[in-house]
Amino acid sequence: MASASRLSVPAAAPRSARPIATRAQAQQEVKEQYETAENQTGMVFKPMKEGKEQLAQVASAHLTSSSTEDSLARLNFAAESEVGINEQINHEYSMSYQYHAMSNFFNRDNVGLQGFASFYRVSSLEERAHAQQLMDYQAKRGGRVKLAALAAPPPDYNHEEKGDALYSMEIALALEKLNFQMLYSLHDTAEAANDSQFQDFVEEMLSEQADAVKEISDFVARLRRVGKGLGVYEFDKFLAEKAAEMYAGIPSPIETAA
Ligand SMILES: [Fe+2]
Repeated sequence: MASASRLSVPAAAPRSARPIATRAQAQQEVKEQYETAENQTGMVFKPMKEGKEQLAQVASAHLTSSSTEDSLARLNFAAESEVGINEQINHEYSMSYQYHAMSNFFNRDNVGLQGFASFYRVSSLEERAHAQQLMDYQAKRGGRVKLAALAAPPPDYNHEEKGDALYSMEIALALEKLNFQMLYSLHDTAEAANDSQFQDFVEEMLSEQADAVKEISDFVARLRRVGKGLGVYEFDKFLAEKAAEMYAGIPSPIETAA
């Protein structure tokens, strides 16, 4: 049987000897603490005073307006950064369009290289996913996405000397290197705007782009070794596997939002 002492209610913790302050006393006490801290450090953060500008901006933003000035989230996000992101979105879409055209060429009944067709089709999806990533980032920072016209890519990729496989892969490499260059220039824009968060975002894309340039360079080098006949047929089988692997890594459009 439990002893009486174990069943008894423990004694309440002793209350502070300090009497309960009235609201006015408490406010006075906080004010004195601020003043003391200010005297000691000269630096006291006063949210309601120092955040006045932000509060005015939030209060004046319209709910349904599409203008940049009415963004609720925007902070330290330069107009140049917003324009640069829209340009990069257009470039990613242009690459997607170009890869799509190449995919359709290799899917022709008189070309029949299904591995190349799949690889370029998945590459097209990957570039569109990059455009989506940039659109989500634009929205996150309070910018406005503006889509622009896309130039039509050529339908044919025949090349007498190189063959279609190598020729198309050289075009892919040129595009990836151009994209790398454009991302560098987007990083310059972020740097000029003194926007470390935007720089961080572009740096992740730069890192992925460096991998893409190396990978396509390897493909060009291998295609230069294998010639235009049986070697291309073997490389096509490799690209079919590669496409399946890449497809599994493309984020779903609903996962990339926010
Ligand atoms: Fe891309």
